[in-house]
Amino acid sequence: MVSTLKIITLGDEALRQKAAPVKEIRPLYREIAEQMINLMVEGGGVGLAGPQVGFMERIFVAKHAGEPPRIFINPSIIATSEDRVKHEEGCLSLPGVWADVIRPKTLTVQAWNERGRPFTLEASGILGRIIQHECDHLNGILFIDHLSELKRKRIIMHYEKLRKRRR
Ligand code: NI
Repeated sequence: MVSTLKIITLGDEALRQKAAPVKEIRPLYREIAEQMINLMVEGGGVGLAGPQVGFMERIFVAKHAGEPPRIFINPSIIATSEDRVKHEEGCLSLPGVWADVIRPKTLTVQAWNERGRPFTLEASGILGRIIQHECDHLNGILFIDHLSELKRKRIIMHYEKLRKRRR
């Protein structure tokens, strides 16, 4: 049994730590992935990574358009396009704030599925963005880290203001 997971937010050190590689698929992964998918859907998000629920292993879940949720274990981005695109991003660990982030338009990712089978996927558009955002989480990187210092400070100030209001 896994205890009930919850999403941690900016300020929690776990968000800044590097997640460890998954060595083998254990039964608990299914339960953790299920809880992560539920939290992602309830929160209205499109992706959620292990560190965001304090689970420090390299796993994330993603939900793209009408497709069923996907699980990525030990993901590794092996190629990115030189073409870059700007798109708005948000994060369940920074509820209420969004910002434009520039990222490669297309990427190739290798990962394992929930059964430990390796797969390779080329992605662009929203899915490509989700994959890049979630892989960042596994390395302790947040989307605001891609912004200029001024923009980052501004967005954190706004986030803190919202958080005080929510209390
Ligand atoms: Ni995020």
